[in-house]
Amino acid sequence: MKRILRSLFYAFGPHTRRVVRRLAFAPVDLYALLRYGGRSRYNGIPLPLPGEIFTGGGNFLENGLLFKSYFQRLGGLQPNESVLDIGSGLGRMAIPLTDYLEASAEYHGFDVVPSAVADCQHRITSRFPHFHFQHVSLVNDLYTLEGASADAFTFPYSEDQFDFAWATSVFTHMERTEVQNYLREARRVLKPGGRFLATFFLTDTEALASARGSAYEFKVQRGEDWYMDAEVKGANVGFTPKNIQRWAEEAGWTEARIHLGRWSGRSGQTTDFQDIVVFS
Ligand SMILES: C[S@@+](CC[C@H](N)C(=O)[O-])C[C@H]1O[C@@H](n2cnc3c(N)ncnc32)[C@H](O)[C@@H]1O
Repeated sequence: MKRILRSLFYAFGPHTRRVVRRLAFAPVDLYALLRYGGRSRYNGIPLPLPGEIFTGGGNFLENGLLFKSYFQRLGGLQPNESVLDIGSGLGRMAIPLTDYLEASAEYHGFDVVPSAVADCQHRITSRFPHFHFQHVSLVNDLYTLEGASADAFTFPYSEDQFDFAWATSVFTHMERTEVQNYLREARRVLKPGGRFLATFFLTDTEALASARGSAYEFKVQRGEDWYMDAEVKGANVGFTPKNIQRWAEEAGWTEARIHLGRWSGRSGQTTDFQDIVVFS
């Protein structure tokens, strides 16, 4: 059922999808506003309503707080470090960091959806001026149909600018040449000793088999990569762990430590929903 609804949803264009979501969630949003007398807040920042959250499921604040703990525990993030948020969305990762990162620690985030960037500037930067958000005009068939290809994009930052970077639920919507470029670019803008945490759907044989018949079954194979939807390539993309390791090496990373997720329903110890890879 979830799979059928998802493919119906993907039949719309990116903008219409966001409008449909707002309409479908209008009663939930209204109930939340009435019940709590307005939007709920974290550190004084108003949080998006369910209908506004086009960037993934689950509890927006809880997931952000969870990743804040992964950044510290798996990525060694310190309060005085400068950070880069690749695909910053609606600020799910940024908001919980506003009471952790010191004012001297610059936060920079960029995203391809202009309204999401404007929204973060309005809600977050206005309260925390060391949090900067920037729109970049790149195409992604799940999020925006306008812009250049991301596979030759140069991040708008200087070499060795950041200590820590992340891309949460972003490479799960990008093509291999784009991911390869982003791994190189992340390496370039991070200082020596910098760490980069990214989430993936690592489609090895075991994960593909475990996910069969579930809402997260990858059915479309193109070369060595796996897609969930035949039409919308960015819908959900999976890469093999071997390729990620190889691309990391080619981009200049010496280590790519994998923390498996539970998306496929595989057995054994898991960390998050998506697979997490920490490059260092
Ligand atoms: C599933 S959302 C995740 C947003 C955010 N990282 C989070 O965890 O809440 C994926 C985000 O990636 C952005 N995105 C897609 N392609 C991108 C690209 N080539 N460069 C930067 N951001 C991109 C989308 O606009 C969207 O905000």
